[in-house]
Amino acid sequence: MDLAGKNVIITGGSAGLGRALAFALARRGARLALVARGRAALDATVAALRAEGAVAHAFPADVGDKDAVYALTGAIGAVLGDVDAVVHDASTLGPTPLRVLGDTACEDLERVLAVNVVGPFRLTKALIGPMLVRGAGLVVHVSSDAAVEAYPGWGPYGASKAALDHLSRIWAAELDGTGVRFLGVDPGEMDTAMHAAAIPDADPATLARPADVAEAVARLMEDAAIPSGARVAASLGGAS
Ligand SMILES: NC(=O)c1ccc[n+]([C@@H]2O[C@H](COP(=O)([O-])OP(=O)(O)OC[C@H]3O[C@@H](n4cnc5c(N)ncnc54)[C@H](OP(=O)(O)O)[C@@H]3O)[C@@H](O)[C@H]2O)c1
Repeated sequence: MDLAGKNVIITGGSAGLGRALAFALARRGARLALVARGRAALDATVAALRAEGAVAHAFPADVGDKDAVYALTGAIGAVLGDVDAVVHDASTLGPTPLRVLGDTACEDLERVLAVNVVGPFRLTKALIGPMLVRGAGLVVHVSSDAAVEAYPGWGPYGASKAALDHLSRIWAAELDGTGVRFLGVDPGEMDTAMHAAAIPDADPATLARPADVAEAVARLMEDAAIPSGARVAASLGGAS
């Protein structure tokens, strides 16, 4: 997708990869709606983007709150107009320190699924109708290697990302030929607050910079040759 002039929602746009992606897409001329819960970081990100000449707006919301999502899409539509692309980047690990499944409360699993799977699904459902009418749209699901590997301690998060990957593939199969495309992206390990919460003793020097990964994700979003439903490693630029 040529991102110039396109209206793009980034959930999790106030920190880490989502924030870096906002700058990468703004440099390409995208008009941005950033979603996160914390108002201060969201407003600071929008102010920094506007200082660079970008069109960016803050929409504080919890993507895991079902009552928030339809008000959110209504507000974004009123401010930006039709949405061309959405990046489902916001995500939760669940309680940290991470714990094994036997020590995981069912309610914690429910919350992780609500934020990481049901939230993106609900938001996509709220946006997909106009995309189908226009015959164009891009939905990006930010995944993880934990969707594929069975890492002890990463149960709710890994299961949620595996479910997100499969939703992405099934959306793509069901909407094949409509012009609305789906892309799963594994960003790899990055130096962010989420990584520090999961693995506090990791050496930041071994982790990718969110800005570098964001550039790779932006290029993947621009690449119309990637088949809808593909799952791509941002570090490799190849489908997996
Ligand atoms: N970091 C890694 O090494 C790594 C590896 C593989 C995959 N990933 C994936 O990459 C994506 C970005 O991760 P990151 O490391 O950049 O995370 P991060 O630095 O922790 O940033 C997370 C962002 O999501 C927002 N957020 C969290 N929960 C939310 C909710 N319920 N509703 C709305 N916004 C919410 C946060 O703001 P608020 O807290 O203010 O809401 C923040 O803007 C995630 O999908 C993650 O699973 C990360």
